[in-house]
Parts: sequence; structure tokens; C-alpha cells
Amino acid sequence: MDRISNFEYFLPTRLVFGVGSLNRVGEFAKSLGKKALIVTGKSSTKKTGLLDKVIAILEKNGVETAVFDEIVPNPLSSTVDKGAEFANNERCDLIIGLGGGSPVDSAKLIAVVAKDGGKCWDYTGSGGGRIPKSALPVIAIPTTHGTGTESDPFAVVTNTETDEKIGVGFDQTFPTVSIVDPEVMKTLPPYQTAATGMDAFYHAIESYINTNHQPTSDLLALEAMSLINHYLPIAYRDGNNIEARTALAWASTAAGICETLSGCIANHSIEHPISAHYNATHGAGLCATGPAFFDYIRPHTKERLARVAQIMGAPESEVDIDKLSKMSIELIHRLQKSVDIDITLKDLGVEKSMLGRLAEDAMRTMGALVEVTPGNLKTKDLERILEMSY
Ligand SMILES: [Fe+2]
Repeated sequence: MDRISNFEYFLPTRLVFGVGSLNRVGEFAKSLGKKALIVTGKSSTKKTGLLDKVIAILEKNGVETAVFDEIVPNPLSSTVDKGAEFANNERCDLIIGLGGGSPVDSAKLIAVVAKDGGKCWDYTGSGGGRIPKSALPVIAIPTTHGTGTESDPFAVVTNTETDEKIGVGFDQTFPTVSIVDPEVMKTLPPYQTAATGMDAFYHAIESYINTNHQPTSDLLALEAMSLINHYLPIAYRDGNNIEARTALAWASTAAGICETLSGCIANHSIEHPISAHYNATHGAGLCATGPAFFDYIRPHTKERLARVAQIMGAPESEVDIDKLSKMSIELIHRLQKSVDIDITLKDLGVEKSMLGRLAEDAMRTMGALVEVTPGNLKTKDLERILEMSY
């Protein structure tokens, strides 16, 4: 039994979960302001009709709208600055992030820059580490079940001038309201289903293995991993299966709470430079390095990895902690294979000559996550993990 150590619990977001909850966006928006800036991507929420639906609900509730649709995957700090300027020119008093992790994360940062001023990069660690005093209210409406951005304060942003991709999070960047409606996730294509589902899986397992793990996130992490292990292959094959989409939406939200309470570890540090340099899909990058990463730190966290194996279907008769911990790595591979994302860094187009640089970038930009990883990892360990993932 684990000893329970000191912890803190702060999650100031109103979570509204369930099929049909999108219809409540007008009610919440009306209570937060008169004009909403909807931050979204270039095409998918238009193609599916979701953007029009949200605008119609808002108008019906007397909330005016403006649309900023310039968000691309791995969003740029320069785009956030442009969005904040647009929000102020349009006199918007609330921001709605509609789409995958990129639009919602961008919405959080646009809300900060629009209200608190300066430039987006001022607020990141390498950009100066400015702490926002305030932000416009944000409503998050995720259309993927992966990032957990609906239940965490984090926003990930890339600076193309420095090729750095950094996650930042403050008390002011929690969404005010998050509307998690599994119905809007039915249109998510199979590859994005797999990649975002595995992102949520890694949030859960990394929070569970984090040396700062705590009781609430432990419970939610095990729940999220178990649900993803069962339902991700089902949603991958049949996107319209609402039972699977609902389970995955909750798993993503639960894993987001785990990120907030305990946080990710070095697998996320390693992934960010990969997607910053190669514009890879975040979830795919995590799958490329995840199994090797957990195998590498396995000697330092055998009991916890054994528990992961148990909730992912290891035989009940197996009680040997060492064998179970080894099995957890095989079971992660099995899950990834079942959704065709058991890939290598080579598959992502990473050059072998870059592995040292990627390890250095991971340590420099996201070293804080390495510190809470079991095993006291150094840059050479990260490089070794990258080599094992090639
Ligand atoms: Fe992630």
C-alpha cells in the first residue's frame, strides 16, 4: 500500500459532461459576456457544421460572435498574438475554444494576452516567465478525446523562431467552463481517434508514475487507462459508437485532471521537441517513445507498472511484480498495435543525427517534468531512450 503524502487540489473549472451538453453553451456564454470570440481551426468545425451550430446557439441566447479560424496543429505563439489583437479589436469579452487541443490551448493564451497584454512568448519559461494577473473567461469545447485541456490549465505553444514547443499553465488559464459532449467527437477520423486517445493514455500513465502522484489522480489515472485500453480500439473501428466515444471523452477529462493534480513526466518532455522540429502529431510522438521510455525507467517504478499491467488485462494468476512490470510494456505495445500507431521515431521522419539535439531540447525546455520522473534521468538517458525508440 502506498504512503499518502502531502498534496494540493485546485481545479476551478465548471465541467459540463455528457451527450447533448453542447446545447448549454449559450446559457454559460450569456453569463460571462456579451460578445464571444470563437477560436477554431481552418476547416474541420466548418465541414462538420459544428461552428455554425455553436454560433446559432449563441445568437439565440443574445451573445454576439466573432470567429478567429487561423489555428493550425502545434499552434504558434505569433498566431496567439494575432488572435488577442483581433479579440480586442472586436471588443470580445469572452473566448470560446472550439476544436482539438490546438484551438482550446490557443483560446486560453489569447484570453491571457488580450486581457493582460504583452506577447504570448513573454509568458513561457524560455520567453521570460511572465505570470498573468488576469485573463478573459474561456469556454472550452473539445472535439477530440485526448489533450485533457478541458480539465487542466495548460496550453502548449510553439515559437518558430527558436523551434521551441513549451507547455505553460497558470491559475488564470483554467477554462471557466468546459463543455465535454461526446456527440461532437463522433466525426473524429480514425487516425486522430488513435493519436488523441493515446495522448490521454500517456497523461494518465505518466501522472500515475510521477514521483508527485497523489490519491485523486491515482484513482482517475487507473480509470482512464482501463477505459482507453477497452474502448479505444472500438472507437477506432466504429467512430459512431457513442458508448465508446463517451467513455473516451471521460477518460480524456479524467486524465486531464491527473495532469492538473500530478502532471506528466519526461515522456512528454521528450515528445515536445519531436513535434516542434518535425511537426509530428503529438499523440503519435508519444507512442513512438512511450514503450521504450517506460522500459528504461521500469527498475525505479516496478510496483506501479505492475498495477498498470493488471488494469490492462494481465492474467490474474500472475503476481510476480517484476514479470507484471515487464508485461505492462508489452500491453502498451498491444494497445498501440490495435489502433495502428505502434510506430518508431524513424516512421515519423526523425533523423538519427538529431537525437542528441532532441534530448538537449527536451531537458532545456521541459526539464521540470524530468525532475519528477523516477530514476533521476540526465540528458544522456533521454538520448538513450530516443535511440531505443528509433
Ligand atoms: Fe499530451
